[in-house]
Amino acid sequence: MPVYILGIESSCDDTAAALIADDVILSNITANQDIHASFGGVVPELASRAHQQNIIPVIHAALQKANIGKNQLSAVAYTRGPGLLGSLLVGASFSKAFAMGLNIPLIEVNHLQAHILAHFIRNTARSNPVPSFPFLCLTVSGGHTQIVLVRDHFDMHIIGQTIDDAAGETFDKAAKIMGLPYPGGPVVDTLASKGDPMRFSFAKPNIPGLDFSFSGLKTSILYFLRDQLKLDENFIEKNKADLCASIQRTILDILLLRLEKAAGETGIREIAIAGGVSANSGLRSRLADLKHEKGWNVYIPPLAYTTDNAAMIAVTGYYKYLKKEFSSQSDAPYARSSF
Ligand code: KG4
Ligand code: ZN
Repeated sequence: MPVYILGIESSCDDTAAALIADDVILSNITANQDIHASFGGVVPELASRAHQQNIIPVIHAALQKANIGKNQLSAVAYTRGPGLLGSLLVGASFSKAFAMGLNIPLIEVNHLQAHILAHFIRNTARSNPVPSFPFLCLTVSGGHTQIVLVRDHFDMHIIGQTIDDAAGETFDKAAKIMGLPYPGGPVVDTLASKGDPMRFSFAKPNIPGLDFSFSGLKTSILYFLRDQLKLDENFIEKNKADLCASIQRTILDILLLRLEKAAGETGIREIAIAGGVSANSGLRSRLADLKHEKGWNVYIPPLAYTTDNAAMIAVTGYYKYLKKEFSSQSDAPYARSSF
């Protein structure tokens, strides 16, 4: 009999539920909250309210799609943090009540570990290759930018991280400066594919070690556009694709330079990417090039497992289930954490 885990994710603005049988995905449902687009960013109060409205239908859909009854569940896994507290509380409270009602174990999951462990989700249709330990994972999302040395499923060490903005945040802020809709990452990605990545140059950080910094780049984009708009008020409109391509190229240069350095220093050639920005087509294709150039084994997650999803929570729950790492009804969500 397989282990059936219901995974629940509600850390930011996506309400998601997924069903997994051992490490094989059965269903993966996400309700996006469009309401935030008109505010140019996630409004925490609205996010928790929308989670409250979405959570029951999303879980119902995940169970139905998987064709699993709630009495067949082995455990409930939920995102405990990091994230927005009001959002996390909705998923955590539901999970606690559901697990208690069914008298099954409750498993708390760290959202950042789950982004990385998304690489271990198996698909019934194909047995995808998974990274071997130890591997390096570049986790790039809206709130985090880290290089993680992964020695085992739960033996993870951050060896480099941003000292200011995250990579996804930089995409989103650059898009906002250009008047593009939220979230900016996918919009910049699409426009960049039609532009010249070498047309404009922006500031790159000069900090030691494996850490990242994106605040200088953001300021450099802001000042450059302010100066150009004084000369031509239609500058952004006329050069949108080249601007997006150049900004994206600069963000990827910053990320990949550190990743190459980390691989060189550790001697590790198993390289994975995770998180929302790992959906970026430029990052995906540059990594595919590096695979040949550097002789790396590269692991790029399917698009469905890049941005926030519950399949990654369910698979993390599965590995914790195997270790019998269950959690207490009194565990409180946390807004910030490393692992
Ligand atoms: O992992 P995620 O869904 O949520 C967090 O945990 O933060 O990441 C969301 C971030 C946003 O900043 C979004 O703009 C970015 O991922 N993103 C992208 C792309 N798709 C999503 N950034 C660049 N290119 C993309 N295609
Ligand atoms: Zn995330």
